[in-house]
This record gives sequence, C-alpha cells and structure tokens, in this order.
Amino acid sequence: MFQQRTHTCGELTKKDAGKIVVLNGWVDRIRNLGGLIFVLVRDRYGKTQIVFDPNENKEVYEKALRLRNEYVVSIEGEVRLRPEKDVNVNMKTGEIEILATHLEILSQSEVPPIYVNKDEEVSENLRLKYRYLDLRREKMQSNLLVRHKVMKASRDFLSYNNFVEIETPYLTKSTPEGARDFLVPSRLKPGTFYALPQSPQLFKQLLMVSGFDRYFQIARCFRDEDFRADRQPEFTQIDIEASFVKREDIFNFTEQLIKEIFQEAINESIEVPFKRYTYDEVMNKFGSDKPDTRYGMEFIELNEYFKETKVKFIKEKLTQGALLKGFVIPEKAENFTRSKFDELVEFSKDLGSSGMIWIANSDDIRSNIKKAAETEIIKLIEGGIIKKNDVMLMILEEKDKVNEILGQLRVHIIKQELKKKVGFDFLWVTDFPMFSWGDEEQKIVAEHHPFTMPNLEEFKKFKDTDPLRIKSQSYDLVINGYEIASGSIRIHDRNIQREVFKVLGLDEKEIEEKFGFLIEAFKYGVPPHGGIAIGMDRLVSILVEEDSIKEVIAFPKTASGSDPMTGAPSPVSKKQLEELNLALLREPIDKEER
Ligand code: AMO
Repeated sequence: MFQQRTHTCGELTKKDAGKIVVLNGWVDRIRNLGGLIFVLVRDRYGKTQIVFDPNENKEVYEKALRLRNEYVVSIEGEVRLRPEKDVNVNMKTGEIEILATHLEILSQSEVPPIYVNKDEEVSENLRLKYRYLDLRREKMQSNLLVRHKVMKASRDFLSYNNFVEIETPYLTKSTPEGARDFLVPSRLKPGTFYALPQSPQLFKQLLMVSGFDRYFQIARCFRDEDFRADRQPEFTQIDIEASFVKREDIFNFTEQLIKEIFQEAINESIEVPFKRYTYDEVMNKFGSDKPDTRYGMEFIELNEYFKETKVKFIKEKLTQGALLKGFVIPEKAENFTRSKFDELVEFSKDLGSSGMIWIANSDDIRSNIKKAAETEIIKLIEGGIIKKNDVMLMILEEKDKVNEILGQLRVHIIKQELKKKVGFDFLWVTDFPMFSWGDEEQKIVAEHHPFTMPNLEEFKKFKDTDPLRIKSQSYDLVINGYEIASGSIRIHDRNIQREVFKVLGLDEKEIEEKFGFLIEAFKYGVPPHGGIAIGMDRLVSILVEEDSIKEVIAFPKTASGSDPMTGAPSPVSKKQLEELNLALLREPIDKEER
C-alpha cells in the first residue's frame, strides 16, 4: 500500500516548517544540479518543490535519479524554509520545500506527446487525442473548476429560489430548434428513430402543465449543425421554465442568477439590471442582434448631410430611397492607410455592397469622395460627427442591407483594428421577429421556436398577409458580443399554437403527427408560462476569457464532429446494423482524423 498524502501540493507554507508530510502527485519538472535534485510535484491544488540531497539520504537520492516527468509519486519529507534567495513569490508554496526522506514511484510515464508543464502551440487534434494529458494543464484545470462553480452556483441559487431540477429524456422525438437532429435507430421498433433533444423545450413546457411551476435542468442538448468557435454538437444549457410569470420576472431572476454566477465563479461583482434594447434598436444601431457595445461605434444616419450632394451615385441612390449610414472609429486615422481602406472596400463588396465610402480626418483629410463631396465632409467635421483623427466608414444601400453590411464591417474592425476590451458588457435584446425567411428551407421559419408567444395584436393583423412583420415576446441575453441565453413567453393557448404552426406551413396532419401530444396536453389547463436557457459553455468561456467553448468542455469534438481520442464516430459491425434493420447506402468514408 502506498503512503497516502497528508497534504495537497498547493497548501504548505512557512507556517508548516518543521512538519513531516507526505505528498502524492505527478512529477512536473526535474532539475538535476549535480549535487542536488529538485523536483516539482504537482496535483490539482498546486505544486511543491521537493529536494533530494545525497548527503541527507543517499538511497532516496539514487531512487530520485530514476524519476521522469509525469511519473506518479508519493514523497515523505520534512517541510523546510527555502533560503531567502530561492523564495518564489509567484507560488503559494514558494516559501518552502520538502527535504525528501522517502520516495515511492506509484506509476511510471512514457515521454508525454504534449507538454503538460508549459503552454505550447500544439495542434488541436493532438490536444484532443491526448485530452487526458491536456486536461492536466493548469489552465484547463482552472477552466473546468470554474465550470463546476457555475453549475454549483446555478443549482444553489435556483434551488434556493424554489426551482426544481427535473431530468427530461435524451431518447425522444425531434423538437425543432432550427438545427438538424441526431437520430438514434430503435431496435425494438425497426425502421423507427428517436431524436436526441435539441433542447428540453417541449418537456419543460409539459412540466408546467403538470404544475411544477418552477423547473430547471442542467441539460445536455444535441444539434447536428455546422461548427463555429462557439458551437458544439453537444452542449449544455442551464434550462429554466416558470409558470404564472411575466417577462419582467424572468429578466429579474436571470439577472440575479447571472450575478450570483459571476460572484461565485470568478469573484466578480456585477451591476444589475442589464440594459435593454429591442431587436430593431440593435439592428439599427449596431447591425447585429448580439452587439458588443463596449466598443461603441453606433451607426449614424447620414442622409441629412448628403441631401443636396452633387455626387452622382449618392444622389441617385438616395432618391431611390437608399439609406446612407456609417460609424466612426475614434482616433485611429493614422492606422488607416490607403491600402487598408482599399481592402475594406473589397471586404464590403464581398458582403454584397456596391462599395464603401471612407473618410479619415488626419492632418490632411483623406477620403474616396474627397474631391466630389468636400462640402459634405466639412459639414460632418464641423458638426462634430467626425472628430480629429477619427475614421468614418459609410455604406449606401437599402435599409436592411446597410445595417447588415455595416454590422459585419463593425465586427471586422473590432477584431482586426481595436485592442481587446476588458470587462463585461451585458444586454437584453427583446422583441425579435416571430418569423423569418429560411433561405435553406425556402419557407417561413420560426425565428426563436414555434412555441414563442407572438405579439398578439400584430399576429391577428398580419398572420395571413405579412407574417414577417410580427414581433414575438422573446429575448436574448448578450454578453461581450455573444448570445449567452435565449428565451420567451410561451403560447399557452392551443388555438394560437395551431395558428402559428399553420403560418409555418404545417397542415393539420403534420401538426397532429409532430406536435399532437402538445396540443392534446394544452386541452387540460395550461398555466401562462415562460422561460429561458443559458448556453453554459459560452457563459463559462466568457468567465475564463477563452475564445472557443472547446476550452471549457472536458471532451469536446473537432470541427468535423469527431473525437480523436476515442475515434468516434466510427463504423459499426454488420451485425449491429442488421439488428437495427439498417443498411448503408455507401461504405463509411474514413476521415483523416482517425
Ligand atoms: P436556443 O436555441 O437559443 O434556445 O439555445 C439557448 C442557448 O444555448 C446556447 N447554444 C449553444 N451553445 C453551444 N453550442 C451550440 N451548438 C449551441 N446552440 C445554442 C446559446 C443559446 O443562447 N429551448 C430554447 C430556450 C428557451 O426558449 O427557453 C433554446 O434552446 O447560448
């Protein structure tokens, strides 16, 4: 039996000098100074320096010569103060070291394929293939610890506030959140499939019908969609639903929950309530439904300044009803060379614009409309719109296109040209459109999901004529430019629910087939209800300042949806397929990552 630790590797300080202790952990690094061997031993709590001195204990010293990085050891020794000059103020245990009197090698390690003890550029594939080693790294350990604290704070806060945690099925029927389903073939009912839930949406609503009143679940969701830095095929939501509530109640408890999470997970005190914008406002001001408002750069309408312009293309487009809008990049004129502007013009053309107007108010005013529009430029400068050293970028197109293109330009400038801001920027975006045009589907789709309560007045008025004008009682929480949570007040009237399905192009038969159980449940007394789901992976990545949610998930997937460690997804045997009554149309393609 090995000697069990008396302390962790992160806790001994000078107060412990003189104690005989046992530490268990991994060899983090070894320095052999000829006469002495210094070994840092690591566990999840920290690192402690061990000294092997042949003059004190020759046998243990000789055993220590066999140590290599990542060996697992048990070490007994005496805590002693480090000489003044060797004190490491950056380490909690930096004032002491252990003079080893006993060493047990509990497990050996081959040379690890990735560094554990230093941050090094390693391919993602390698990191994920050896994820268990990658997770030994300090940053990954601390990321997952913050994730744990987020879950704990959520459970504590919500339980304290009378929310009940209830699990809902993974093997279920498809609920439409707009993505593709992952399907699971049923063996017992050959030819039929379960869908993994894209979210617990329908179940949490049914729990409201059951009278649970306040529900939450830290729920895994599955969506077979294209990847981005903030998307994984399986991810986790802090999913919440409540009955007899208005939107204000949901805002209020979500703000309190987020406040609690920031406090508990990273010890940051944040201000509530969060600011609010309607969807129309954010689109007009920032050209995005998830703006990072720390960077300012709100859009300005400029038609007024150009109404008497002699510039032909501007005049023509304005009379055709186009909108001229722009935003100011403050105090950056000297960074913008002619070639940079040319690149931005090309960038905006790629986004579908016919061009981009730029003005730089440096010592000599520079602009691609300088000659033709000098009077207008001077008006903008004298009117205080463009200040000394500012750059202004403008787009002239019809309204929606202007906002969209300027919005992408703004994000591009933030990423390419501006220093990363610190701190947190919270905002609610409310009143999203109820429906939008689905380019892929070539039909009207629900902007949030079909269970969202529309603005009823608009719904009555426009459902048959112009459904895209209808707004809904939905909301998103945005932090630092990321959509962190999303929710809505729900429909609790079966007739309205039916009408919404109809606008989405479902006929009675399809409604019955897909959502019959919901419509049926809605016959038996449904409380008004609403809720929200927080994307936990995204929230944690913001808390620990990581750009990708992979950094806060223990075992994530690569961009092609695979796991280089286990090799999933992988082919299955013929027998398994037969049992499931399945045949493959094509042989599986062996992806390069496996
Ligand atoms: P929604 O689909 O907006 O709403 O999801 C809620 C939040 O989950 C996060 N999220 C994701 N995170 C990582 N990877 C993904 N692929 C991914 N997709 C979404 C986002 C998002 O804001 N049932 C509704 C919620 C409700 O109405 O209560 C829903 O799932 O942060």
